[in-house]
Amino acid sequence: MNDRETLLRLINKFNGGKILVIGDIMLDEFVWGKVSRISPEAPVPVVEVTKEDIMLGGAANVLKNIRALGGQALLLGVIGSDYNGERFMEILKEGGYSTDGIIVDESRHTSIKTRVIAQHQQVVRFDRESKDDLSVKTYREIIGLLRSLLSQYNAVIVSDYGKGLINRGIISTILRFKKNNGLIVSVDPKIRNFRFYKGVTVITPNQKEAEEACGFEINSSKTLMKAGTHLLKKYGTDAILITRGEYGMSLFQKDGTVKHIPTIAKEVYDVTGAGDTVISALSLALAVKAKWIDACILSNHAAGIVVGKLGTATASAQELKTSVQNSREPLL
Ligand SMILES: Nc1ncnc2c1ncn2[C@@H]1O[C@H](COP(=O)(O)OP(=O)(O)OP(=O)(O)O)[C@@H](O)[C@H]1O
Ligand SMILES: [Mg+2]
Repeated sequence: MNDRETLLRLINKFNGGKILVIGDIMLDEFVWGKVSRISPEAPVPVVEVTKEDIMLGGAANVLKNIRALGGQALLLGVIGSDYNGERFMEILKEGGYSTDGIIVDESRHTSIKTRVIAQHQQVVRFDRESKDDLSVKTYREIIGLLRSLLSQYNAVIVSDYGKGLINRGIISTILRFKKNNGLIVSVDPKIRNFRFYKGVTVITPNQKEAEEACGFEINSSKTLMKAGTHLLKKYGTDAILITRGEYGMSLFQKDGTVKHIPTIAKEVYDVTGAGDTVISALSLALAVKAKWIDACILSNHAAGIVVGKLGTATASAQELKTSVQNSREPLL
């Protein structure tokens, strides 16, 4: 049953969901300005800065999404011992988030992506980050933290942006715990790390990631079916959720059930971060014991809300309720 009442009841239970988010932490920085001339130094525009903004990105954006939806979450990840790392800690503290899961590694840079935007156009983006594997010391620290924390959570979200935090050892530590405790483990994948994900509860690739993981193109309902079935079998998960941008999402379950859920977004302003919203709402719903289809419908609503907002946005529990209430029958 995925009637409105069931979905609304689930949203009301979100505050009981406890999620551990582990993954690559990033900062998203935006510098807005005006271009009035070309530089005398080089053939590039001079941007007169009018506004700057910095926000949580990567795994830290997943943390933000869960909080917005009313859930409880702790972020486990690594930053560098640098200025941007200090800024990251300040943002966490100002937002009232715990910093207990943040490890500082002196050999790494805090990942930050800075976009310069003038006259509504991105002029340049510069990235500062470390992509190397973790040092042995940091790896051990993370494993220690994971072991001490896992029993307190209903679900773990692995937010893998391929910057070096997620590796086989970290996933197997989580899976060892899952075996005895029914923990939900959901993964937002990075293509080159797929081999680590065997045995997790659910993977949420977008269409491109699913295509790359399968080695063939998804260009028909037949190839979509083939991809979902292939990934389910290959990675031994309970479910695969392929997110398909403007076409919504497709859920493939171990028992053979397949459901295609069309997007509910009416106006699309900015699709950045929609994947983070999907995995956040999905995992939170599963953590409060939602059925798969209900968890997906809710995550689809949440994504539909954030793509209708500018910037890396989040959806609140109230917005999600309104979206569910306003949706046309049938819900699926
Ligand atoms: N253009 C769009 N129109 C309507 N809905 C959209 C659009 N793009 C994304 N969505 C919604 O957001 C969900 C996730 O989007 P998508 O499949 O693009 O994930 P993604 O590529 O992982 O996103 P991200 O950019 O965050 O990595 C979709 O399943 C859909 O519900
Ligand atoms: Mg994504």
